[in-house]
Amino acid sequence: MPSSRRIVNIALIGFMGTGKTSVGRLVADQLRFNYLDTDEMIQSATGKTIAEIFFANGEPAFRALEENVCQELAAKNQTVISAGGGLPVAPQNMASLKTHALVVCLWASPAKIWERVKNQTHRPLLHDPDPQKKIRDLLAAREPFYKQADILLNTESRSLREVAQQVIHQFRLQSDGR
Ligand code: S3P
Repeated sequence: MPSSRRIVNIALIGFMGTGKTSVGRLVADQLRFNYLDTDEMIQSATGKTIAEIFFANGEPAFRALEENVCQELAAKNQTVISAGGGLPVAPQNMASLKTHALVVCLWASPAKIWERVKNQTHRPLLHDPDPQKKIRDLLAAREPFYKQADILLNTESRSLREVAQQVIHQFRLQSDGR
């Protein structure tokens, strides 16, 4: 772990439907940390839903907002952050997260992701004629970025509670001010 890092937060990254929100809330409760979700930060800053931003302003505008909230996170302490699925694709976002957080990637296969998201409608990137192919393609394109996380946790055969325990265990091993 480079000494310039100050690991005081936990950032959960990974594809949509890998459990970042549920696991993040559990981890925050157990550690008595604050919980922040980058999508919620963008929604409260703009007063618009993520889908509205995508459709009215386009994905590049959303990515710019995402980068802004990512910069704000560097000032936080004792916070569990759930990052939008595409956030770590921008190298400056991943670099920023790593200055203050243990970056944990939650992983699942395209089939498992589809099972978890197929009845949800709020994610604009899945409003696609072939959402299963979209998941496979996006996940393949993002894999090299996700794999830059400090810890990669497969969520397929673990309960949310078990995943949360693993996250906490890793944080206790690697954080500053244990
Ligand atoms: C996105 C994931 C979403 C949200 C937006 C774009 C992505 O967040 O940021 O719809 O690019 O994968 P979740 O991963 O929390 O669903």
